[in-house]
Amino acid sequence: MRVIVKGTFAEACVAVAEIIGDLVRRKPTAKLGLATGSTPEGVYDHLAEMCAAGLDFSGVTTVNLDEYRGITGDNPVSYRYFMDKMLFSRINIDPNNTYVASGVKDLEEELARFKRKIYDGQIDLQLLGIGVNGHVGFNEPAEKLYCTAHVEKLTPSTIAANARFFAHESEVPTEALTMGIGDIMSAAAIVLLAGGANKATAIRELITNDFITTAIPATFIKAHSNATVVIDRELAELAGYR
Ligand code: F6R
Repeated sequence: MRVIVKGTFAEACVAVAEIIGDLVRRKPTAKLGLATGSTPEGVYDHLAEMCAAGLDFSGVTTVNLDEYRGITGDNPVSYRYFMDKMLFSRINIDPNNTYVASGVKDLEEELARFKRKIYDGQIDLQLLGIGVNGHVGFNEPAEKLYCTAHVEKLTPSTIAANARFFAHESEVPTEALTMGIGDIMSAAAIVLLAGGANKATAIRELITNDFITTAIPATFIKAHSNATVVIDRELAELAGYR
C-alpha cells in the first residue's frame, strides 16, 4: 500500500483528482467506483474544473459505494442527490452510465442490480473515504464483515457522525445498502482519501502497522496490490506516521 502525504487537505484532493484524471485520459471508458461524504467534495470540484478544461467523461461509467435505505434519490440527503449535485451535473458524463443504489426499490432486486453493476466490467479505480470508526463504504466494525453488496445497520458512531447532514440526528437512516469488502477489493486500484483530526485513530491503524482487523474495516485494503492512501501532513502527524 502506498501512502502519499500532501501539505494540505486541499492539495490531497487535487492529487486524488489528478490520479482519476490520468486514468480517464489513459482509458476514456474507465469505470469509476465513487464515494460520497465531505471528504471527496474537493476532488469532485477539481474534476469539474478538469472537465471544463477539456477532460472528457462521455465514455466513463460509475458505480457508487452506498446509499441510505428508505430515502429516495431526489431527497437532498440521499447519496444519489449528492452525486448529481457535486459531480454528475458538472461533468459531461451520460447520466445513464451512473449508478447509485436505490434506497427504496425492492431490496432483493436492488441488491442483485447493485452486484451486477459492480461486476459488469471491473471497476478501474475505487475512491474511498474512511469513517471515524474505520468503516469503508458502510462496512461497519464487526466480528464478521460482508464480502458483497448487502444492507448494513449503521452504528451509533456513524449515525452521530452523519447527523450534520440532517436537521436532527433522529432523521439519520439506520440502514444503508453498501458494497461489501470483497466488492471494494475487486477494483483494479483503490484510492483512499482522508483528512481531519477525527480520522487519526483509524488512519493510524491503516498506515502504521501491518495488521488487518474487522474492527477497522479499512485495514483490508492493506491486502490490495494497488492501494493508495492520500492524506495531509497534519493527519499524518496525528496518526504518528513517519
Ligand atoms: C460514503 C462512504 C463513507 C464515507 C465515510 C467518511 O460514500 O462510503 O464510508 O466515506 O463515512 O465520511 P466523510 O467523508 O463525510 O467524513
